[in-house]
Amino acid sequence: MHNVTLIKGDGIGPSIMEEAVKVIDATGVQINWEEAEAGLGAYEKYGTPIPDETVESFTRNRVAFKGPLTTLSGGGFRSINVVLRQKFNLYANVRPARIWPGVKTRFEDVDIVVVRENTQGLYCGLEHYLTPEKDVAESLAVVTREASEKIIRYAFEYAVDNNRKKVTVCHKANILKFTQGLFLDVAREIAPRYPAIEFDEKIIDAACMHMVMNPAQFDVVVTTNLFGDILSDLTAGLVGGLGLIPGANIGADAALFEAVHGSAPDITGKNLANPTAVIMVGAMMLKHLGEDAASERVERAVKKVIFEGTFVTPDLNPNSRAGTTEMGQAIRDAMV
Ligand SMILES: NC(=O)c1ccc[n+]([C@@H]2O[C@H](COP(=O)([O-])OP(=O)(O)OC[C@H]3O[C@@H](n4cnc5c(N)ncnc54)[C@H](O)[C@@H]3O)[C@@H](O)[C@H]2O)c1
Repeated sequence: MHNVTLIKGDGIGPSIMEEAVKVIDATGVQINWEEAEAGLGAYEKYGTPIPDETVESFTRNRVAFKGPLTTLSGGGFRSINVVLRQKFNLYANVRPARIWPGVKTRFEDVDIVVVRENTQGLYCGLEHYLTPEKDVAESLAVVTREASEKIIRYAFEYAVDNNRKKVTVCHKANILKFTQGLFLDVAREIAPRYPAIEFDEKIIDAACMHMVMNPAQFDVVVTTNLFGDILSDLTAGLVGGLGLIPGANIGADAALFEAVHGSAPDITGKNLANPTAVIMVGAMMLKHLGEDAASERVERAVKKVIFEGTFVTPDLNPNSRAGTTEMGQAIRDAMV
């Protein structure tokens, strides 16, 4: 029996997480779901976006399965996603994007894993106004050698373990010579220790252009927090949209599994949200729990339903009359 903290989240979260939990349960793997709350819903109910019980549950279980959380732009509380990643030192955010057979995309051969440094950079929360009139503001980016070594080593180890051929570091060290320069220096130091893995470096703006023009040249990409956030949505666009991309936040002794996408207020309550991303998040979590066969079963079922293209959400097939619940059911039916 595995104990997992379950946070269904805001917006489309509860509806897609419900489908994902049913799919995971249908594998027969015994999971004791410990439900906890976080995000805007928790804030409105309890006056805090992250109740102590939620932190205690994750501290106890060390594994969490989380839906998207709403963070208002501008004012309001600090992102709970960022808070949890920092609090539990979930330093590696792993976001695989690949083309599923049956999904219409502009390319045929995209298979990119973005490995994002998850605890530092411009997401440190070191932000303030410099004047009482609030007409000047500053944000500080912090990059340490220790955290850079950890994430770059993680990217190379991931490449070795998953039979990948190349690691590309994306940076802006030409302009941000200290923070980004340190990250690049560390990558250049570590790369030669992995002679079987090709190493490449790209300045982030050019990397975006190359990724859109010729994504096949990218394999594993390692980068700092903000660039990783942006690049992973870009890779989602290359393979058919945000509804398809899972993610894992990995630390030394805790892991939190969540999709790349957010709470999608524009489609909340309409049975339109694609549950694939969170179901594949579930597959990543099963693998982390040592349940490889169950993880592969889930992946095979998702692949079949997407390939057939009938019971899929409209983001994948505009003519489809199926929604979140029908797609979830079809994936369960496809599990053999
Ligand atoms: N990890 C997280 O919890 C997380 C990640 C990103 C954004 N957010 C939050 O989510 C909220 C909304 O952000 P946003 O609109 O910029 O990004 P979003 O990812 O919620 O939505 C962007 C677009 O993608 C579509 N989309 C997203 N998920 C989909 C799915 N499963 N199926 C089909 N279409 C899907 C949406 O309908 C929307 O058009 C914000 O409050 C933001 O802070 C949370």
